[in-house]
Amino acid sequence: MMFLPAVLCVFYVWSPATLIGGQGPTSNIIPRKTVPINSNGGRLFREEGFWNYTTMLLREDLNMLILGAREAIFALDLDDITVKKAMVNWPVTKQQQMECSNKGKDATNDCKNYIRILHKNKDGSMYVCGTKAFNPSCDTMSYANGQLNLENKQEDGKGKCPFDPFQRYTSEMVDGALYTATSMNFRGSEPVMMRSTDEIIRTEFASTWLNEPNFVHMAHIPEGEPNPEGDDDKIYMFFSETAVEYDSYTKVDVSRVARVCKGDLGGQRTLQKKWTSFLKARLDCPVLNINLPLLVQDMFHLCQDDWTTCVFYGVFTLQLDSAVCAYKIEDIKAVFSKSKFKAPFPVETSFVKWALYSSELPDPRPGACIDNHAREKGFAKSLDLPDKTLQFIKEKPLLDQAVSPIGKRALLVKRGTAFTRIVVATATALKGSKHHIMLIGTKSGSVLKAVNYEGKTVIMEEIQVFEPSEPVKILRLSNTTLYVGSEVGVVQLSISECGRYHTCLDCVLARDPYCGWALNTGRCSTIDSTHTTSTVIQSLSDGDASRCPPIGGSKPVNISFFHGNAVKLWCQPYSNLAKVHWQLNGHPIRASNTFQILSDSLMIFNASAEASGHYTCSSVEGKYEAQHVAYDLKMWSGSGTTASLRDVQEKENTLVAMVVILSLILAMLVFWNMYKGHLPLPCCHSRVKDTTNRCGDERFSANQAQQHKVASSTVNMNSNNNYANIQRFSISRETDRLTTTVGSSGQISLRPIDDESEI
Ligand SMILES: *[C@@H]1O[C@H](CO)[C@@H](O)[C@H](O)[C@H]1NC(C)=O
Ligand SMILES: *[C@@H]1O[C@H](CO)[C@@H](O)[C@H](O)[C@H]1NC(C)=O
Ligand SMILES: *[C@@H]1O[C@H](CO)[C@@H](O)[C@H](O)[C@H]1NC(C)=O
Ligand SMILES: *[C@@H]1O[C@H](CO)[C@@H](O)[C@H](O)[C@H]1NC(C)=O
Repeated sequence: MMFLPAVLCVFYVWSPATLIGGQGPTSNIIPRKTVPINSNGGRLFREEGFWNYTTMLLREDLNMLILGAREAIFALDLDDITVKKAMVNWPVTKQQQMECSNKGKDATNDCKNYIRILHKNKDGSMYVCGTKAFNPSCDTMSYANGQLNLENKQEDGKGKCPFDPFQRYTSEMVDGALYTATSMNFRGSEPVMMRSTDEIIRTEFASTWLNEPNFVHMAHIPEGEPNPEGDDDKIYMFFSETAVEYDSYTKVDVSRVARVCKGDLGGQRTLQKKWTSFLKARLDCPVLNINLPLLVQDMFHLCQDDWTTCVFYGVFTLQLDSAVCAYKIEDIKAVFSKSKFKAPFPVETSFVKWALYSSELPDPRPGACIDNHAREKGFAKSLDLPDKTLQFIKEKPLLDQAVSPIGKRALLVKRGTAFTRIVVATATALKGSKHHIMLIGTKSGSVLKAVNYEGKTVIMEEIQVFEPSEPVKILRLSNTTLYVGSEVGVVQLSISECGRYHTCLDCVLARDPYCGWALNTGRCSTIDSTHTTSTVIQSLSDGDASRCPPIGGSKPVNISFFHGNAVKLWCQPYSNLAKVHWQLNGHPIRASNTFQILSDSLMIFNASAEASGHYTCSSVEGKYEAQHVAYDLKMWSGSGTTASLRDVQEKENTLVAMVVILSLILAMLVFWNMYKGHLPLPCCHSRVKDTTNRCGDERFSANQAQQHKVASSTVNMNSNNNYANIQRFSISRETDRLTTTVGSSGQISLRPIDDESEI
């Protein structure tokens, strides 16, 4: 083989160039690596005839993922979701479907049973609710003897599960009691947040409580546990709604956090069977240059130790602007326990203005849980609370102060992408430090993996999960495995996939706390307890790759071209943050009529003898420059000398060329003879012209044949071990191949392909 793959050569340029990643935390952050769908290493579950895989329950105790879809519930192996352990159908009856469509709903889409609620009961069984053709209903389900069984209880699901499968809702099971937030009527116009035990406690139906809300998330925080004030556990709810407090003639939607106390039993006369502790505050996620508030889409909370360390991570969007904001539980709690209230003041007839309520508050403080202070005053439960306190909260549940995120601004901002969901994992780095890894689902079907170091956020990867543009509808995390649900399928991904980082430089500059470059194996490995700073390189805050061993022995790829060809040389760096740097015989290449520098390649037009030479492509990321690939270009002389042709195939090519020349001579002889009349052929003048033309054609196709030979000899060089250097940075080593294509214009193009079948 004449053409051998080049070997990556790494060297360092110690220029004081600015480090990549100098963006402020609120600027648009580019993901360092893009992982295409065919190399994300994920496992896909989908069942023929079933859709809408958007409800999940992790049963780590059973090692199963319970998946709610349309008209069915699946039990999948948590380690490999392509393994279906069990399933149960829960269809609507013909009767139910007809009643639903008679009320004007679409029979094939709306009038189905969409599973919306899946929770674990105390006894290990599960509570499940579905929309049941706009007639929500709930049941108990168990897993036994390898089967999922529904008990067929037909419990009323009104107020627990939405009627409309397109409406947002949220729910949480706390100590056997189901807390839900949804709409409780057919039209979807009566929002409610309620707790379903024997006695239902719910929100007041008033626009001051909930005003066209979009429910997003609920979380139980056990604040009652080690609490010197004798406070109660809380259930926090996140949603967006139409604001009442702005003097605006257009509707303005805002994000909110509300909360109720776990021990709330409602009031005695006022607020009977209603929350006495429902309070809400605006939730801010400020982004520079965007004036309208971004709206909360999802929330996830992570608690390191006890509840005081809990942090809420939320994704917010406004059309195609998205952000992540994080909130400390202490900051949320401080607003609920200390902020003043807003109150409606009539301004003109039928118009009220919400403003700060500055008069004295009743005691106990409206909305407070029963704590030591209340108990001292003789109020042992919410039923004992005085009317003045209850009347206040009934009319004015909105707090004046808004909840601000950590650092008073967004952790991450992305333009042109709509975030849909978020979960956060904890990673322990080589030196033992803990880091929060944000995994963000997007409307376009990708998952972003981001981390914040000392106030600066980096997006390590953008992993394509669904195509085309299938929004991520649910994310669940178990250890380092992520489950991503959409309407069309579920994908299981590992979030500590270090093999995608190909070189030491790539591995260290990724700044992924899960990964480090193991010096003994020469691989990017998942950090474990056996790794030490002397055997593994990891540099999270600085991205300092100076300890990376240099790699030598770069061998260029040989390429021959014909005069006038267009040649395309591929070079795609591993990182989206890297710039490519092309050189010809050691001199930088500038864009010209001949050279066009593209993001993934170099085009050489109308190549002449001057285009021959040694080409190198380096990627420059931060202060590091690494040679990525090298090519030796040679012009095909076509003179018939075999000096430069050492390969059998090329000898064949020369033979073809010689045959062409001989046939040309023959054709000329024939032509000459015909012209002189030595050959009495029934031919006219035009026929003679034809012959010459055909000769020209023949020569052209011989040229093409030669080019195809060049192509095939390049295609064959798939020795598999050294191709990483020419592949796209995002494609795994094993599947990389090179291919050379000869375009209709005689263009030679060397590119990596990632599908075996293409070879
Ligand atoms: C490229 O061609 C040169 C001779 O022109 C040869 O010495 C070298 O080994 C070839 N390289 C590869 C990688 O085949
Ligand atoms: C269910 O999935 C189908 C197929 O993707 C989609 O068209 C439909 O909108 C989904 N229904 C709901 C209620 O999300
Ligand atoms: C997952 O977490 C459990 C404990 O929660 C632990 O025992 C197990 O080793 C973890 N598995 C992996 C692969 O990290
Ligand atoms: C290619 O280069 C030759 C000279 O080397 C020039 O005469 C010709 O016009 C060029 N063709 C194109 C398409 O640029």
